[in-house]
Amino acid sequence: MLAAILLFSDFAEDNPYFRITAKDVEFKIPKGFPKPVYDFKNNKLSPQAFVLGRRLFYDPILSKDSSTSCTSCHQRIATFAHIDHPLSHGINSLIGKRNVPAIQNVVWGESFMWDGGVNNLEVQPLSPITNHVEMGEDLAGVMKKLKRNSYYRKAFKEAFGDTLISSERMLKAIAQFTGMMVSANSKYDRFIRHEDTLSQIEFNGLMVFREKCAKCHREPLFTDESFKSSGLYPDSSLLDKGRAIITGRSNDEYTFKVPSLRNIERTYPYMHDGRFRNLDQVLEHYAKGDFFMVNIRPELLEARNISTLEKKEIIAFLKTLTDNDFLYDRRFADPTY
Ligand code: HEC
Ligand code: HEC
Repeated sequence: MLAAILLFSDFAEDNPYFRITAKDVEFKIPKGFPKPVYDFKNNKLSPQAFVLGRRLFYDPILSKDSSTSCTSCHQRIATFAHIDHPLSHGINSLIGKRNVPAIQNVVWGESFMWDGGVNNLEVQPLSPITNHVEMGEDLAGVMKKLKRNSYYRKAFKEAFGDTLISSERMLKAIAQFTGMMVSANSKYDRFIRHEDTLSQIEFNGLMVFREKCAKCHREPLFTDESFKSSGLYPDSSLLDKGRAIITGRSNDEYTFKVPSLRNIERTYPYMHDGRFRNLDQVLEHYAKGDFFMVNIRPELLEARNISTLEKKEIIAFLKTLTDNDFLYDRRFADPTY
């Protein structure tokens, strides 16, 4: 039985559902989106490298004890965030310090992580692979395992033309997979492109959103890539100072990267520590305006004073950001099943 499963997974790409063609890996900038930060020119997209990156993403081989893969934390049904876990869970059931963010539109990211501690998409996976509460491995260990594995020997050769298995190639392949995760076809996007209409309540929500929220959650990516405080009182057990951990500057204390709100309906719980279970609680936080006042910006103070009706409208609007084409895109499905 075990042999049968292994055999099947080795040939998974022959299954039409998982097959990737040259057309599947064409990167097009969606209408109205800015120029990406990450340039695939230096990491030429190919079906073979994408398939390799996808396999690596779904393979627990990258962790020390082969228990934890990228997808243990980043679930496809949750826009590659993690439903229900406020804080991430890694190897040996160790609990991390932060909520797992979604992976989407990362080629537009100027920096990654809640504190912006990583500024390059390609090197980003080094952080979870080597973090002792995430995958707990080191690069030498990963390389050794990949070189011993016949699937990967073949897959690296197909992707890069020769038998060299290196960390650089591994990271490039993973970046092809995560970089292609583009969400740009929600109802909101179709509305902007004049291909769909919003209901009255959704439209009203968009108007309030533009007035109160869009200065930080800027369209079309719904983040301005900056670090801000959303006025949360720090959790006394985590003592997470956010951006200041990276910069050491007091005016960055308790600021976090403004998260995109695309597919927000699917990425609960919310905030860097996952403290809010649903959108009502998030909206209640802004509306109440009982903010922790360190490094607060005027934009945040403007987000207060939301009426009960406006809250409902904003939530209705936020749900138009759900992009089922992306969430159910077969290219990103787990090929090892
Ligand atoms: C143990 C859980 C866990 C595993 C395993 C894991 N991640 Fe993450 N990932 C996180 C957490 C938590 C963050 C946010 C970290 C922070 O802010 O300090 C994150 C952040 C990210 C981000 C940045 C998203 C953004 O917009 O800032 C990307 C991309 C990412 N992970 C990809 C991966 C890849 C690729 C792998 C596998 C090599 C992986 N992750 C493995 C938990 C995990
Ligand atoms: C001053 C900038 C700013 C404004 C204005 C602002 N936000 Fe935020 N928002 C943030 C930051 C920063 C975070 C992440 C905070 C954290 O985790 O500590 C966030 C988090 C969120 C989250 C959770 C996202 C996730 O993935 O966990 C939602 C939902 C949200 N904001 C909605 C809104 C809405 C709706 C408004 C308008 C009423 C708004 N925001 C106004 C900066 C802002």
